[in-house]
Amino acid sequence: MQALSSIEHGYDLLAPKFDETPFRTPAGVLDAVAAALEPLGPFGSGVDLCCGTGAGAGVLRGLCEQRVVGVDFSDGMLRAARAAEPDLDWVRADVRRLPFRPGFDLAVSFGAFGHFLPGERPRLFAQAYGALRPGGLFAFPIAAPARVGSWPYVALWGFDAAMRVRNALLRPTFVMYYRTFQLPVVRQELEQAGFEVSTVPLTALGELPDGSPRCRMVLARRPG
Ligand SMILES: C[S@@+](CC[C@H](N)C(=O)[O-])C[C@H]1O[C@@H](n2cnc3c(N)ncnc32)[C@H](O)[C@@H]1O
Repeated sequence: MQALSSIEHGYDLLAPKFDETPFRTPAGVLDAVAAALEPLGPFGSGVDLCCGTGAGAGVLRGLCEQRVVGVDFSDGMLRAARAAEPDLDWVRADVRRLPFRPGFDLAVSFGAFGHFLPGERPRLFAQAYGALRPGGLFAFPIAAPARVGSWPYVALWGFDAAMRVRNALLRPTFVMYYRTFQLPVVRQELEQAGFEVSTVPLTALGELPDGSPRCRMVLARRPG
């Protein structure tokens, strides 16, 4: 039912069970990002974009000394987040049109970029930029691309292909493509939005056979 709905309604349906699915960002990834961000703090206020049930907001709670906000457009997901963490601020909004003035010190996002078509990313990154104060940081993990022919490569390719067939045949669409979010292009797009971009390896998440990190954290800083 979720896959036959729009993204927003699909997550409304999934919300009560979302934390039991593999779609919630695993604790190991959240911990690795928190550990990599900790030395860059302290941070004042923070915002988790596409917060779902609050995985990333939990990271912000440990890093930020002031307001922590989670933003999502699924009412169901926000209800679950609010039930788990009533003390944080939960805002219903489409992250392509954020209702904030520039003011956050830190923005994070986990597990949601596949929901945006490549053509939508400049707008998404511009919104993240616009929510940060000058000097603020937009951080998120990004996995190394799967080796061509490996099992993860075949699985992700198969998922994306099934989604493309589904979206060619059915309305509303449910956009979720795993293979469209690749570091070199994303880096360029972030720079075009005005960010200064660097990456750090998340060594706790392991290495590929060639010794390169399995996962990196992108650090996009708004200059100032
Ligand atoms: C796979 S879940 C990830 C949730 C959470 N960040 C995590 O890592 O567990 C993707 C989330 O993105 C939200 N989302 C997708 N597109 C969105 C948009 N345009 N604006 C706001 N939220 C959006 C969905 O409602 C869903 O809660």
